[in-house]
Amino acid sequence: MNFFVSLRRFSVIASVVATGLLWVGAGCSKQPGAAATGAKADAIKIGFLVKQPEEPWFQLEWKFARQAAQDLGFNLVTIAAPDGEKALAAIDNLAASGAQGLIICTPDTNLGPAIVSKARNANLKLIAVDDQFIGADRQPMTSVHYLGISARKIGESVGETLAAEMEKRGWPAAETAVCAMTYDELATAKERTDGAIDALVAAGFPRDRVFKAAQRQTDIPGAMDAANTLLTRHPQVKYWLVCGNNDNAVLGAVRALEGRGIPAENAIAVGINGTDCIGELEKTKPTSFFGSMLLSAKIHGYQTSEMMYKWIKDGIEPPLDTRTVGVLITRENFRQVLKEQGIRD
Ligand code: GLA
Repeated sequence: MNFFVSLRRFSVIASVVATGLLWVGAGCSKQPGAAATGAKADAIKIGFLVKQPEEPWFQLEWKFARQAAQDLGFNLVTIAAPDGEKALAAIDNLAASGAQGLIICTPDTNLGPAIVSKARNANLKLIAVDDQFIGADRQPMTSVHYLGISARKIGESVGETLAAEMEKRGWPAAETAVCAMTYDELATAKERTDGAIDALVAAGFPRDRVFKAAQRQTDIPGAMDAANTLLTRHPQVKYWLVCGNNDNAVLGAVRALEGRGIPAENAIAVGINGTDCIGELEKTKPTSFFGSMLLSAKIHGYQTSEMMYKWIKDGIEPPLDTRTVGVLITRENFRQVLKEQGIRD
C-alpha cells in the first residue's frame, strides 16, 4: 500500500493502474466555471467541484482526476465554486446535464445537508473530499462518503518538526513564540492547528507563548493580514515558530515576518499541502519557510474519481471514511519527493 494512505473502517484502496483506455477528446460545458474532459457522449459523467480553484492543491486534484477520466473512460466536469450560491447552482446544472456522480470540496461545510438533499433528489452519488460536511447538529456528517487527511496527526507532525528544529537551533523558549495561523470555522483546519500546538506543548514549549492569528480568509493576503496584527502585538519576540492550516496560511505569515524585518533565520515555518510552496522552496535565498507536510493530491484527485466511477459503473460502494497521511518535505528533499509523487518531472 502507498505510504500516503491509511484507512479507517475499510481497506479497499486499489492501486492506481492506468487502464490504457482511449481518451477521445475534451469538450466545454456551458456551465460557468466548469470544464469537461473525457470520453464518449454516453459515458459516465462525474463532476469535481472545488472551493479554491486558484490553489495549486486543487489544480493538482483536478489534474489527477482528469488522468483518471482518461484512464477509465468517463467524462469529468471540473467546477470552480468559491461560494455557496455557486456551489448549489452548479450541482443543479450538473444534475440537469445527466451526471451520475459528484465529488466536492465545498466552499462551506455547513452546506452539507443542502448538498446531500440536492444530490439525493438528482440521483447523484456523492463523495466529499478534503472538507467533511457538517450537519445541522454541528457534527461531521459521517454518513456521507468522505476522503480527507488525518488532520490531527499531520498537525502533530508539524508541531514535532517545529520543536525539533527549534531545539537544533538552540533557541530559548523565553525568546521564542508560536504564531499559529488558525481558521477554526473549518474542522480539518482546526484539527491541524490544534494538533501542531498540542505537539509543541507536549515537547515542552510553554502554552502561554502560543499566539493565535485567526484568518478571515484562507488565502495568502488573508493570512498576511492576520499575522501582521499578531506580530504588531508582540514586538518583543525574537524567534518565531509558524504553523497553520496549509501552505498559504504559513506563507502569509512568512511574508508578514519579512515585512516586519524579522531575519529569515529567526523564524521556522512549516506548512501543509506541499504543493503550494514549491516556488518558495526553490528560491535561491532561503526564507523562513522551512518545509511542509506534503499531502497526496493524487489520492485525493485520482482515487476519489476512481472510487466514484466504480460505484456508478459496478455498484462498488467506496469506504465511508478514508484518510491520507503526509510526509515532510524540506529544501533538502523536496525535488526528489515531488518527482516520486508525480507532481514534478
Ligand atoms: C483543505 C485545505 C486545502 C488542503 C485540503 C487537503 O481543503 O483548504 O488547502 O489542505 O484541505 O485535504
